[in-house]
Amino acid sequence: MIITGRNKRAIEDHFDRSIELELELERKHKDALLQEIKAISDLVNIQYVRQQTPKGLGHAILCAKNFVGNEPFAVLLGDDVVDAEEPCLKQLMQVFEEKGQTILGVQQVARENVNKYGIVSGEKLGEHLHLVKTLVEKPDVEIAPSNIAILGRYIITPDIFPILEQTEPGAGLEIQLTDALKELAKIKEVYAYEFSGCRYDVGDKLGFLKATVEMALKRPDLHDDFMEYLMSVTGNVEQIYCKRS
Ligand code: G1P
Repeated sequence: MIITGRNKRAIEDHFDRSIELELELERKHKDALLQEIKAISDLVNIQYVRQQTPKGLGHAILCAKNFVGNEPFAVLLGDDVVDAEEPCLKQLMQVFEEKGQTILGVQQVARENVNKYGIVSGEKLGEHLHLVKTLVEKPDVEIAPSNIAILGRYIITPDIFPILEQTEPGAGLEIQLTDALKELAKIKEVYAYEFSGCRYDVGDKLGFLKATVEMALKRPDLHDDFMEYLMSVTGNVEQIYCKRS
C-alpha cells in the first residue's frame, strides 16, 4: 500500500495502464517499448490511501490503520533508497522472525547530521543489534543520545496504533512516528538493527544525483556509455560507487 496525498497522482498514474501510449506504440510497431510500458502496470497490485493533510509521518501511518488491521507491518519511506546485496527489509524481517517485536532499520551517521533523523540509543546486544531504550526526533547535535539514525525502514507491531492516536504534534509540529515509537519502547521491546547496504537520501538534491549516477552505473546496458560520458565531464572518475558497509 502507498500512502499518498493531494498533487501526488503521478505515483498512481505510473503504476496504472497508459492506454493512449500503448495504442501509439502498437500503431508504430514499437514492440519492445510496448512490453516495457505494459510490464510496469503488471508489476504489483497497489492499494492507495490519501493522507488529506500533511500532519507528519505518524499521522500518515495512522491513515493505514484499517488496511493493516492487527498485523505487524513494514514501513518504507520513499525518499530513502537502500541498495544492498540482501534487501534491507529482508534483513529486518530475519530479525523480526527471531524477536517478534518492532525492528527499526538504522545506520550510524556523521555526528553533525543527527539533526536530520530519528536517533535511537540503547543497549548493544550484538554486532548489529540494539535494544532501544530511547528515541528522539531530529535532536540538536549537543543533546543527541547517539549517532544511530533511523533510515526509513521499519517493521512495526500494531501496538503502535493506539499510541499514535494519542501522540501530540512534536518536532516540526507534526505527529512523529519517532515519538510514538519512544512510547512503544516503554511497554514492549523495540530493536534497532544496523543493516548492511548503501542508503541514499533521494529527498535531498545531492542524494538524488548520487543515487541516479550510481544506479545507472550498475546497469549493464548503460554502464560503459555512461562511464565514458562521466569521464568526459569530470576528467577523472576513479571511485564513485558508494562504499558498502
Ligand atoms: C523521517 C523520520 C525520521 C527518519 C527519516 C529517515 O524524517 O521522521 O525519524 O530518521 O525520515 O529519512 P523526514 O526525512 O521525513 O523528515
